[in-house]
Amino acid sequence: MSVDVTNGQRPHVEDYSKQVFGSGTEQVMEEAKTCGKILTVLSWMLVILTMPFSLLVCFKVVQEYERAVIFRLGRLLSGGAKGPGIFFILPCIDAYARVDLRTRTYDIPPQEVLTKDSVTVSVDAVVYYRVSNATVSIANVENAHHSTRLLAQTTLRNIMGQRPLHEILSERESISKHMKSLLDEATESWGINVERVEIKDVRLPVQLQRAMAAEAEAAREARAKVIAAEGEQKASRALREASEVIGDSPAALQLRYLQTLNTISAEKNSTIVFPLPIDMVTYFLQAKQNSQKDPF
Ligand SMILES: *[C@@H]1O[C@H](CO)[C@@H](O)[C@H](O)[C@H]1NC(C)=O
Ligand SMILES: *[C@@H]1O[C@H](CO)[C@@H](O)[C@H](O)[C@H]1NC(C)=O
Repeated sequence: MSVDVTNGQRPHVEDYSKQVFGSGTEQVMEEAKTCGKILTVLSWMLVILTMPFSLLVCFKVVQEYERAVIFRLGRLLSGGAKGPGIFFILPCIDAYARVDLRTRTYDIPPQEVLTKDSVTVSVDAVVYYRVSNATVSIANVENAHHSTRLLAQTTLRNIMGQRPLHEILSERESISKHMKSLLDEATESWGINVERVEIKDVRLPVQLQRAMAAEAEAAREARAKVIAAEGEQKASRALREASEVIGDSPAALQLRYLQTLNTISAEKNSTIVFPLPIDMVTYFLQAKQNSQKDPF
């Protein structure tokens, strides 16, 4: 018997089983159901016959934060997960799995990531998640916790790889939110609810740290120079105004001269000051002015 898959459409599972097992499949299913019923009845009889002792095996307890997913003869029991508290299983034909519903914390180990602008950074994060649907977390995925953790790691790497460094440093909040929504979407089919993602630390390579520090220092120095230059400009204007005022009245210069002498005597009282008569200074000034007027 050949199965034609060249047209791109795979045969539906039921069609396939019909092709393989022939038209007797329905009959086989009916037989399986009847067999299951018989086994269930036998199991009940076993429980009743060994009454006081069978209770020890049949009654199970799960904690407030746990649920039990029960499989009877390999099929999920209708009514969803049982618990919290006491639940009942039949010996030999029931199997059950406990699922913890409490929030778990996963510390994503530091990941070396190449950002969009080709800088290698080391990023770590914390993910808080919990099982939201116990049945689905057992039936749909082999190990829901392990899968969620691996996915969290790869999602972190992907997101960081799509962004330039300055965004990673300045927009942690929005990156966390984006990552949470991506993770939540992917893990929904595993019965996992991602509650929170926090980017813990972004570590830069030492060389880059040095370069950034040098850049910041240079920027500060440039600003300081501008401020100093502006100060000089203002001071020179003020000095010019002062000199104009002094130039208007000769007595002002003399007063200023005496004032300077006074300052020196107060501050450096061990320095001996020999006062030069201001008249001599005026004489030199006048001589200079005359020579400028009449150079011959
Ligand atoms: C879990 O998922 C199953 C299948 O999607 C659904 O039937 C069931 O109601 C869900 N249980 C809860 C508690 O949401
Ligand atoms: C000289 O100045 C110092 C402090 O600057 C002061 O202690 C001292 O008394 C002063 N001497 C005189 C003679 O004023």
